[in-house]
Formats: sequence, structure tokens, C-alpha cells
Amino acid sequence: MSSEIRKSEIVEELKLGAIPQHVAIIMDGNGRWAQSRGKPRIFGHQKGVQSVRHVVEAAADLGIGILTLYAFSEENWGRPKAEVSALMKLLETYVIKEREKLHKGNVKFRVMGNLERVPVRTRKMVLDTQQYLEGNTGLTLNIALSYGSRNEIVYACREIARKVQSGDLTLEEVTTERFSEHLWTDGLGDPDLFIRTSGEQRVSNFLLWQIAYSELWFSQVYWPEFRKEHFYEAIRSFQSRKRRFGLVLED
Ligand code: FPP
Repeated sequence: MSSEIRKSEIVEELKLGAIPQHVAIIMDGNGRWAQSRGKPRIFGHQKGVQSVRHVVEAAADLGIGILTLYAFSEENWGRPKAEVSALMKLLETYVIKEREKLHKGNVKFRVMGNLERVPVRTRKMVLDTQQYLEGNTGLTLNIALSYGSRNEIVYACREIARKVQSGDLTLEEVTTERFSEHLWTDGLGDPDLFIRTSGEQRVSNFLLWQIAYSELWFSQVYWPEFRKEHFYEAIRSFQSRKRRFGLVLED
């Protein structure tokens, strides 16, 4: 049996169970993967783009609503200049090369983060792509770029404080739901499943507010080697969990 047929069987089987509406991924291990092969870290990032393609396809096939990928954190600005520029370039190439394919696949594209720090050229390309794919109704591919969750929360607090000060909001109207509306993930809902690759078990300033009730999955696989079957494994684990959201469930 060809591996493509086998994969579509797995997809059909998984679709019989609960499919997470929103999956968030920390794509970790590019640098270590490359270095373990005697290659520069950038080589790992380049290979990582292939994994992005595989996972986007797998998520769309499964009918997942939102896929949030941590492409670049605010802390990542502190990496060597050459690595930062290579990452920006990879993002640019990805959106240019992939735009039509994403469009054909009915994929919507969104970017979130402190975009003021992103080079004008990269920013323009990702925002143009967002606009180009705006009308699509399938999977939303949400890229966290120059993203830091603590800053996201601080910005939300400032915005809310401003509204309270100007009388647009009363203190009583500041609820968890209203707070969520001021985050960059507004409208996306919280991740049901949170994946980190490379064996590290940290959250690293990613979606701190939003993952309050997410199911966590840590894969040992380095991101450049992460393939559809690894993604399916995470979904399978998700399907085996009983989510209680702090309540007591009847058996
Ligand atoms: C973490 O690995 C990965 C990143 C900081 C960058 C991820 C970017 C890509 C996969 C490519 C571009 C993205 C898209 C969406 C096209 P690391 O470098 O921290 O690895 P290490 O922990 O082994 O050093």
C-alpha cells in the first residue's frame, strides 16, 4: 500500500474522533538538528520550512480550524544578525512561493506579534499575503512573528486601561472574555492542543493566557524531521484525553 493511501486512511480514521479546532506549535530544534549534522543553524531553519508545509497540509486535511506556528519570538531578536536575517528571508520566500498553493487550498493567513520591529520588506510581504488570502474560509494559518506573550498581555492591559480611563469601558465590563478580545489572538479561540517539538518541555512565552486549558504534547522529534505522522500522533493523543476544564465529568 502506498504511503499516501495509508495517510489518507489515517486521516479518515482520525476524523471519526474529536478534531482540535485550534492547534499551536512551538517548532523547536532547528539549530540542534543542523549542528548535530555539522551544518550551520540556518540549514536547520531551511529544512524546517519543509516541515511547515507538511503540517499545514495535514492540518487542512484533518479539518483543523486554526494552526498557530511560533515562527519568531521577541526574544529571537537577540540572535546573531545573520540568523535573524536568514529567518526573515525564509519567511518572505515562504509567503511568496506558497501563496498560490495556500489560496488553492482555501487557507487563510494571519500574522500576529509586535510587527513594528519586523523589517519593512518582510512586514509588507506577510501583510500582503494576509490580505490576499483574507477571503478564504478553510484552515487559518496564524504565524506568530516577533511574538511575546507577556508583551501581548501588557498591550491588552494598556488598551483596556485607556478605554476605562476614557469611559468606553467600565471596570465591571473587564471580564476574561473582554480581556481575550484585546489579545492578538482575538477571534481565534484558545488552542485545544499545544505541541512543542525537540524534547524541550517549556512554554517559552508563547500564548500564556490562551493555553490555560490546552492539552499539551511534547514530541522528541526535532522540527526539521517533524512529519505528518508525528502530527497524527499528537492528534491521536489529544483524542484519548478527557478534557474536564476544571469540572467533574459523568462517566
Ligand atoms: C526554533 O528552533 C525555531 C525557530 C526560532 C524558527 C522557526 C522557523 C522556521 C521553521 C522557518 C520559517 C517559518 C515559517 C512559518 C515559514 P531553534 O533555532 O531555537 O532550535 P534550537 O533550540 O535547536 O537551537
